[in-house]
Amino acid sequence: MSSDMYYSNGNEVRLFEQAFTRKIPVMLTGPTGCGKTRFVEHMGSLLGRPVITISCHDDLTSSDLVGRFMVTGGDVTWTDGPLTRAVKTGAICYLDEVVEARHDSLAILHSLTDHRRSLYLDRADEVVRAPDDFMLVCSYNPAYRSSLKELKPSFRQRFATLPMTYLPPEREAQAVVAETGIELAAAQRLVHCAIAIRTADEAFHFEPPSTRVLVTAAQLIAAGAGELEAAEACILAPLSTDGAISEGLREIAAAVLLDADKL
Ligand SMILES: Nc1ncnc2c1ncn2[C@@H]1O[C@H](COP(=O)(O)OP(=O)(O)O)[C@@H](O)[C@H]1O
Ligand SMILES: [Mg+2]
Repeated sequence: MSSDMYYSNGNEVRLFEQAFTRKIPVMLTGPTGCGKTRFVEHMGSLLGRPVITISCHDDLTSSDLVGRFMVTGGDVTWTDGPLTRAVKTGAICYLDEVVEARHDSLAILHSLTDHRRSLYLDRADEVVRAPDDFMLVCSYNPAYRSSLKELKPSFRQRFATLPMTYLPPEREAQAVVAETGIELAAAQRLVHCAIAIRTADEAFHFEPPSTRVLVTAAQLIAAGAGELEAAEACILAPLSTDGAISEGLREIAAAVLLDADKL
């Protein structure tokens, strides 16, 4: 069982639509697995625009974004990159984890994110003007501190920023049910387990358990796994490799889930 349902968490759907109408690029911030990708896909179908996703990383060059000349059978031809394709087709271009890309690769975005709304393909000697329905969306996780990278403030100020976070408990449990088909009560226990760890997380400083891991745990439960073993495999084990911390987390999880496993 799976769904493409998006559970909203405030005013983000309306603000995204308003940004789209006024051609303002959007920056989504928030922890991993809180629904950023799901949200962009949802907005794409709501606005009737395809979404072209680019996962950013260290080695991403501006040519990877805009395209390059390629030699095919003796001919040299220009091939559009995903960003150029998105601009030309009026798609939503989603740069995931944009903080991972080098600043010089991102410079190509400047002319797209101001009044020019154009992509300058220097090497192809071409200017591509963005149609009205092109939209640039980026995401990053500001709390993720193991990467020392930061976005330049001047870059961040080119976007309307929509801060995203986990759904309120009742809705998060509903989302887990919608994704997996497990019992609501079991989903609620998984959510409470996550909340207990998210709260303790302030002392631990790891990436807190996300909605994604709850969905994965629920998938195992739907396939017949016990709640505690599913939680261990999907919620607890990925959090920390430190034995003492893992033990503490297991106690937190057991307090919420153990009784359920004995039923
Ligand atoms: N608001 C939401 N509505 C429905 N499902 C959600 C929501 N947030 C998270 N999920 C679930 O969690 C999974 C991970 O979300 P995703 O959008 O990939 O997170 P992110 O892009 O922030 O890392 C989704 O595939 C979905 O199952
Ligand atoms: Mg994502």
